[in-house]
Amino acid sequence: MSIIVVFGGTGDLGRKKLIPDIYNLYVDNNLPPECRVFTVGRSIRTQEEYKESVKDSISKYSRFGFDEDAWQGFEKLVSYRQFDFNDIEGYRALEAELSEMERECKNPLGRLFYLATSHEFFSPIVKRLRASGMADSKGAFRRLVVEKPFGRSLESARRLNDEIRGVFAEEDIYRIDHYLGNEMIQNILSLRFSNSILGPVWDRDYIDNIQISILEEAGVEGREEYYESSGVLRDMVQNHILQLMSLVMMEPPASLAPGDIRKEKLEVIRSIRDITPEDIGENVVLGQYGEGLIKGEMAKGYRSEKGILSDSTTETFAALRLFVPNSRWSGVPVYIRTGKRLDRKLLNIAIEFKNPLATYDKDAFAETQPSVLLINILPQESISLQLNMKQPGRLDRLEPFGMSFFKKAELKNKNPETYERLIFDAIKGDSTRYAGWEEIENSWRIVESILDCCKENSDSLHFYSAGSGGPKEAERLIEKDGRRWWGDGNPRK
Ligand code: BG6
Repeated sequence: MSIIVVFGGTGDLGRKKLIPDIYNLYVDNNLPPECRVFTVGRSIRTQEEYKESVKDSISKYSRFGFDEDAWQGFEKLVSYRQFDFNDIEGYRALEAELSEMERECKNPLGRLFYLATSHEFFSPIVKRLRASGMADSKGAFRRLVVEKPFGRSLESARRLNDEIRGVFAEEDIYRIDHYLGNEMIQNILSLRFSNSILGPVWDRDYIDNIQISILEEAGVEGREEYYESSGVLRDMVQNHILQLMSLVMMEPPASLAPGDIRKEKLEVIRSIRDITPEDIGENVVLGQYGEGLIKGEMAKGYRSEKGILSDSTTETFAALRLFVPNSRWSGVPVYIRTGKRLDRKLLNIAIEFKNPLATYDKDAFAETQPSVLLINILPQESISLQLNMKQPGRLDRLEPFGMSFFKKAELKNKNPETYERLIFDAIKGDSTRYAGWEEIENSWRIVESILDCCKENSDSLHFYSAGSGGPKEAERLIEKDGRRWWGDGNPRK
């Protein structure tokens, strides 16, 4: 028997992702035998009400959709317990219940605790898991999955980590970054390390620059309070962006074992150069959205969103130029842009190659583009390689042509969802697709170096209209180096 306890499972994440994805695991026969799922929340509701809400989540968000036969089985596994996350008696009652169930079953495998609450409850919950005896091993596994944000600063992340490490061993702590559960993102490693045509050119001699874009149309809907104290640097760069960067730039790992992959990812993050007050101007652009037209309708500016101060300086957009000055990547800029309320949803990585000038002179490239490998994750999963060929009738002039692979939509629905994959891994005890503590610690170091430089200087915020492509300064950040942002397969957009 395995037990999954989801704290805060009735929130948005639980309703839209966690519970439907646990159901997906059930339908796919990927839950351990005799698995039980407890959702702990503060709202008062009966088991019947809870099950109705689970049914509703499954119908709306499961990749399999609602199926009456599957529901008959799944319904027996899930239940709701209501208590305040600070109330030790709630934990004691649940501990008594879980112990009783485990005593009665022949093979108690262990417990997976999932913290999906607001981050201020992470530490109180962990303390009470210990105080109530719920985290005591008793010969079976006890694992903890911690949602983001893992801290709000380097110092608070260290404090949280120390508290958690006082209760759980490092190998039992699963710090989630849901991007790592994405199939296409996992493909970055397969693409790099299973194709020997890429290995030899994956360095500063052949690659001119790397670009990572995570653009969102959505705003901060319903998460204003969290976002106001976070901003895009903490919300997206500290985790998703730096994780993507580490996958693209890591050395080949000795094997696919979690320790080997994490070791190489960590080396990249550890090597990223801090931003200093002297170079912040040429490496960082922060922005905030004002009102603007989205699909023909006027959308509010960030400062007019519910509960946001009219003089808020929280950044909703960031464009960065980072460097990893190691022997492989020294001198190769990594351009990053991410933000909310932009003109499109886009998640992609562009690897732009240098133009070889041995046979062709510079003029030959005047009407073409540099060769580029694009890994597109959103809105459409695809990989495309753009190369050069001669222009018709001319030997000394080049033009681009593309080769693309598009993942078929029907294939996509067969892929496990990101949380489904990650929960499955945590149950099995595989932390490959989770972030290690030192990765998180070093990510905070980089983000803090930017935040510290900006603290003194509120003029560093550039405004952009909702529904636009972001602040003009983000274009300048890259154009001053003689380069431009790649779009989603259409070069130079
Ligand atoms: C979350 C951020 O981690 O990732 C959100 O907190 C962001 O602000 C989201 O919208 C983006 O993830 P996805 O899966 O919607 O691309």
